[in-house]
Amino acid sequence: MKSATATLLAAASVAYAQVATVSEPSLTEIKKAAATIEPYSPVSNVQGLAFNRFYQIWLENIDYEDAAADENVKWLASQGITLTNFHAVTHPSEPNYCAAAAGDTFGMDNDDFQQIPANVSTVADLLDTKNISWGEYQEHLPYPGFQGYNYSNQVTYDNDYVRKHNPLVLFDSVAQNSTRLRQIKNFTSFDDDLANKKLPQWAFITPNMTNDAHDTNITFAAKWERSWVPPLLNNSYFMNETLLLLTFDEDKTYPKGNRIFSILLGGAVPENLKGTKDDTFYTHYSVIASVSANWGLPSLGRWDCGANILEIVANKTGYVNYDVDTTNLHVNETYPGPLSDNEYSKYSSVWPVPLTNGTCSAGHGILDIVKKTYANSKPTYNYTSPFPYDTESKYNTEVTATRKQASSNSSSTSPSASASVHANAGNSLMLPGVATLSSAIVALLMSILTCAWLAVEPDKKGDLGETFILLGVLDRPN
Ligand SMILES: *[C@@H]1O[C@H](CO)[C@@H](O)[C@H](O)[C@H]1NC(C)=O
Ligand SMILES: *[C@@H]1O[C@H](CO)[C@@H](O)[C@H](O)[C@H]1NC(C)=O
Ligand SMILES: *[C@@H]1O[C@H](CO)[C@@H](O)[C@H](O)[C@H]1NC(C)=O
Ligand SMILES: *[C@@H]1O[C@H](CO)[C@@H](O)[C@H](O)[C@H]1NC(C)=O
Ligand SMILES: *[C@@H]1O[C@H](CO)[C@@H](O)[C@H](O)[C@H]1NC(C)=O
Ligand SMILES: *[C@@H]1O[C@H](CO)[C@@H](O)[C@H](O)[C@H]1NC(C)=O
Ligand SMILES: *[C@@H]1O[C@H](CO)[C@@H](O)[C@H](O)[C@H]1NC(C)=O
Ligand SMILES: *[C@@H]1O[C@H](CO)[C@@H](O)[C@H](O)[C@H]1NC(C)=O
Ligand SMILES: *[C@@H]1O[C@H](CO)[C@@H](O)[C@H](O)[C@H]1NC(C)=O
Ligand SMILES: *[C@@H]1O[C@H](CO)[C@@H](O)[C@H](O)[C@H]1NC(C)=O
Ligand SMILES: *[C@@H]1O[C@H](CO)[C@@H](O)[C@H](O)[C@H]1NC(C)=O
Ligand SMILES: *[C@@H]1O[C@H](CO)[C@@H](O)[C@H](O)[C@H]1NC(C)=O
Repeated sequence: MKSATATLLAAASVAYAQVATVSEPSLTEIKKAAATIEPYSPVSNVQGLAFNRFYQIWLENIDYEDAAADENVKWLASQGITLTNFHAVTHPSEPNYCAAAAGDTFGMDNDDFQQIPANVSTVADLLDTKNISWGEYQEHLPYPGFQGYNYSNQVTYDNDYVRKHNPLVLFDSVAQNSTRLRQIKNFTSFDDDLANKKLPQWAFITPNMTNDAHDTNITFAAKWERSWVPPLLNNSYFMNETLLLLTFDEDKTYPKGNRIFSILLGGAVPENLKGTKDDTFYTHYSVIASVSANWGLPSLGRWDCGANILEIVANKTGYVNYDVDTTNLHVNETYPGPLSDNEYSKYSSVWPVPLTNGTCSAGHGILDIVKKTYANSKPTYNYTSPFPYDTESKYNTEVTATRKQASSNSSSTSPSASASVHANAGNSLMLPGVATLSSAIVALLMSILTCAWLAVEPDKKGDLGETFILLGVLDRPN
């Protein structure tokens, strides 16, 4: 990776100017913003079918077998249900976090500074349809809604907080809303919210680069998890009707297949299922679908639409999951898309169009704003499939899926997909250099459209595709 070349001082709402500068914001500037921005902790109590609170904690880059062999992971597994057939959706990290929030990778094959257009909806929009409180807890995020690329340990400059592990901040539909930004908080806020009984009903928890195994290993990270999680399991306020998912963003060995060791814990896990296994095929998309099924929420119309639903919820709704034959499954890379750098996938300028008509596995149709925004457009993929595939680029077209319970007309095979559902998948731009630059230009155009002004040092523009570091601070008029 090349050196940092540009800095965007991002605004929290239309009221604040979004400002670009060639220098990184100083620690003073970050501290100034931190002093003025208050975390926001909305609460709600919307009854779900299988749980009233859903939290997920993501560690990083560990192969299934390595996690399974760790003593502390084994102990955590003994307290809940082990999901033995849970898959990440691609490599590297960031597209997995993106997928967990929005139901798609958008072809992302990198950890770049991404700003995903505001017409892409996320799980936050689903939760908002019923005013279900949500939040993120990102360890060592310097202040709520910080949009910078990283915030390092200020003594050692080791990796600490990184934007690529912060799912919701990647989306303009979140980042352009100052209220939503204040729901993206750090671990200090987690402790406060826990103590004040102001925890949200949905949360995404990201430990820092030391604790999440990224810069360490499973021994270290599982020790961290073993110290952080058990006090919560003994906290009656936290545990009450809570489902806690411990998982990983992806596996470590790219050719292996991306199965990740995942555990369900919490008060929502029935006593008799503690220490058991669930072998159902799941992906990060299943988590959005399960949250929707639990609370009666719509789908994003992306890969969450057809995703299998956690059995603990599916048992309540009667949804019959698919058995997916993983022999030919390749979820260690993704299909072409606008966020590709031509690293593992191919660049295409076309933003995938979601499904706008369907009931989806959660059973509650598709989010109104998605239907409205994409009305009359053909979906790019067959988003009703329980695994991602693309006939155009021959991605996972050899994979087959069958309904779990035998029923004469319920089996399906992806290659039978008609061409019409893949109408937009063919416009790939395959010139590597141009495409890398294109990603940067798209990101910049997005900024221009949403910013008061933007300036980039002219002689540095050529480097933007790879590594420009954008650091956000709130620029409040004094
Ligand atoms: C959500 O909250 C808003 C603002 O308080 C309110 O207008 C709306 O009716 C609520 N929606 C639901 C589904 O409770
Ligand atoms: C966490 O966020 C709060 C503001 O909500 C800030 O005051 C504090 O310094 C942050 N803590 C860390 C460790 O970054
Ligand atoms: C971000 O990371 C770079 C490279 O490690 C470092 O120089 C910079 O100080 C970091 N920025 C912050 C705000 O920590
Ligand atoms: C990560 O957080 C832990 C505390 O949870 C801290 O000890 C460690 O120094 C942090 N890592 C970095 C690189 O700052
Ligand atoms: C910001 O998001 C909140 C809910 O998350 C919503 O109630 C509010 O209307 C949004 N504000 C704007 C300006 O879109
Ligand atoms: C795991 O990481 C920790 C912290 O970096 C280190 O002290 C330890 O030696 C590592 N263990 C192995 C087996 O690599
Ligand atoms: C658990 O939550 C339910 C509903 O959310 C509430 O009625 C009950 O009082 C809570 N129990 C405890 C022990 O907090
Ligand atoms: C994915 O796995 C296949 C088969 O093992 C391998 O050929 C391919 O290189 C892998 N992709 C990446 C990005 O590592
Ligand atoms: C779901 O129902 C099946 C069949 O009754 C049962 O074997 C399984 O344990 C249940 N799973 C969960 C997580 O409740
Ligand atoms: C939605 O799909 C159903 C079933 O495939 C079809 O009957 C209906 O006409 C579709 N509605 C629209 C608005 O396309
Ligand atoms: C969504 O936004 C992207 C990027 O601005 C744009 O290319 C696309 O046409 C938009 N889609 C719709 C349906 O408005
Ligand atoms: C889309 O996927 C579903 C689930 O695998 C399958 O039943 C259906 O036939 C597929 N649709 C098309 C058009 O291939």
